[in-house]
Amino acid sequence: MTAEQDASHNEQEHAVNIMNVDYSTKIPNNVNLSEDRQVLKALEGWHPGYIDWWNDMGPDGFQQSLVYLRTAYSVDPRGWAKFDYVKMPDYRWGILLAPQEENRVIPFGENFGQPAWQEVPGEHRATLRRLIVIQGDTEPASVEQQRYLGKTAPSLYDLRNLFQVNVEEGRHLWAMVYLLQKYFGRDGREEADELLRRRSGDADSPRMLGAFNEATPDWLSFFMFTYFTDRDGKMQLHSLAQSGFDPLSRTCRFMLTEEAHHMFVGETGISRVVQRTCEAMKAAGIGDPNDVAKVRALGVIDLPTIQKKLNLHYSLSLDLFGSEVSTNAANAFNAGIKGRYKETAIDDDHRLQNATYPVLKLIDGKITKVNEPALTALNMRLRDDYTQDCAKGMLRWNKIIALAGYDIRLELPNVAFHRQIGEFRDVRATPDGVLIDDATWNKRRNEWLPSSDDGDFIASLMTPVTETGVYASWISPPKVGIDNKPGDFEYVKIET
Ligand SMILES: [Fe+2]
Ligand SMILES: [Fe+2]
Repeated sequence: MTAEQDASHNEQEHAVNIMNVDYSTKIPNNVNLSEDRQVLKALEGWHPGYIDWWNDMGPDGFQQSLVYLRTAYSVDPRGWAKFDYVKMPDYRWGILLAPQEENRVIPFGENFGQPAWQEVPGEHRATLRRLIVIQGDTEPASVEQQRYLGKTAPSLYDLRNLFQVNVEEGRHLWAMVYLLQKYFGRDGREEADELLRRRSGDADSPRMLGAFNEATPDWLSFFMFTYFTDRDGKMQLHSLAQSGFDPLSRTCRFMLTEEAHHMFVGETGISRVVQRTCEAMKAAGIGDPNDVAKVRALGVIDLPTIQKKLNLHYSLSLDLFGSEVSTNAANAFNAGIKGRYKETAIDDDHRLQNATYPVLKLIDGKITKVNEPALTALNMRLRDDYTQDCAKGMLRWNKIIALAGYDIRLELPNVAFHRQIGEFRDVRATPDGVLIDDATWNKRRNEWLPSSDDGDFIASLMTPVTETGVYASWISPPKVGIDNKPGDFEYVKIET
C-alpha cells in the first residue's frame, strides 16, 4: 500500500467507525468510548442505576417477554436498524451521534458563520446544561407515564410498538446523559443522577414539564401522546439539532431518526381508531356520529370523545413551548445554542436583530395579533411550526371520516383553549377561541375535555388482546406490519 492509499484507507475506516456502532463495549457507541476512559467510567457508574430505574419504572410486566425490537447498528439514515427478538432489560441502549459534518458552522445568531463548537463555551455552559437537562427529563418521564399500558394492549403489534417507543426513550435519556457526563464534569454527573431520581407525577420530585406529569391512562391517550407530545419533542430536537454546540447537534440529529417512528405510532394509531369507528357506525346504519350512546354500544370510541382527547393533548403540548415572548429563547438564539425549526432552510439573515414576528396576545380581553421582535418571539414561532405539523394529521383523519360519508371533522382547538402557560393561562376559552367566564367553563368543560365518564367508557374497552393477528374491537388492524411482517406475526412472545 502506498502512503496515499494507506491514508485513504484509514479515512474510510474512520468513516465506517463513525457510521457503525461498536457493540464490543458494555455501552454500545459510535463515539469511541473505549478510548475515553473517564467518560466510560462515569457512564458505567451510572448504568446500574439506569437498569434499576428501568426495572422499577419501565413497562410493568413483560420484562421477560421476547419483543421484536429494532436496535440501531449504524447512524446511516438509509439503513440503521436491525430487528430481532430481545428481552427489554437486555436491550443495547447505546450512544449514537450522527456523523460530524466537516467544517460545520454555527447557522444562526451573533456567532453566525463561526466554526461550530466541539467543546462547551464557558459563557454558555449554564444555558446549555439547562436545555440538555430539560430535554433529558422528558425521555424517562414518558416511559414512566406509559408504564401500565402493556397490560391493556389492543394487539401484539401495538404492544411491540409501545415497547419500541419505551426503549428508545430510554436511549434518548442515555444520549443526554452522555452529553452531561462528557462535557459538564461534576455538575453533569449530578444532573445525570437527578434524571433517574425524579418521577412523573410524583408530588415531591415531579418531572420538569407539565405534560410529562399527566397520566396516560389508556391507549387512545397513548396515541394522542405520541402524536402531539412526541411531536413537541420533534420540534425541540430540530431546534437543538441546529445548535452551535456540535455534539448536541449530532446527538439530536440521530434522535430524530428514531423519533419519526414514535409519531408514526401516534398518527396511524389515531387513524386506525377513527377508521374502526367509522366502519362500525356505517355497518350499524348510524347516520349521526354525535349519537354517542348508540356509537358506544358498538364497542367503539365515538368521534366526539376522540375530539375531546385531542383537545386535551394538543393544549397540554402547546404549554411545552413556554411563554410566547421569552428573553431566554432570544438569548439562546443569539448565543447560537438553539435555532429555529429547519433554520438552514429559512431564507433570511439568521440573526433577526431587526426582524419582527406576529404573536397572539390577550389585549383588552381580545385575542390580538401583535408584532414582536422576532428574537423574543422564537417560542411562538416554533409553536406555529408545530401547529402546522399537527394539522397534517387532521387532514388524514378527516379524509377517513369523509370517505365513510360522515359530516363531522376533527379540529385543533384554538391556542387560547385550556392553557396553563403563556398569554392565555388566566382566561377561559372555548375550542373555537371565544373567551368565556368561569361559570360557563365549569358548566361546559365536559363538552370539550374528557370527563370521568368518558374515561370510564374508554377504560371499559381496554381489555388486552394477545392472540397473534387479532385486534381489539375499537381499533382497525394496521395496513402493513413492522419490518414487513405478515398479519399473524408474533411481535411479542409474552411467555418464554
Ligand atoms: Fe425521545
Ligand atoms: Fe419519542
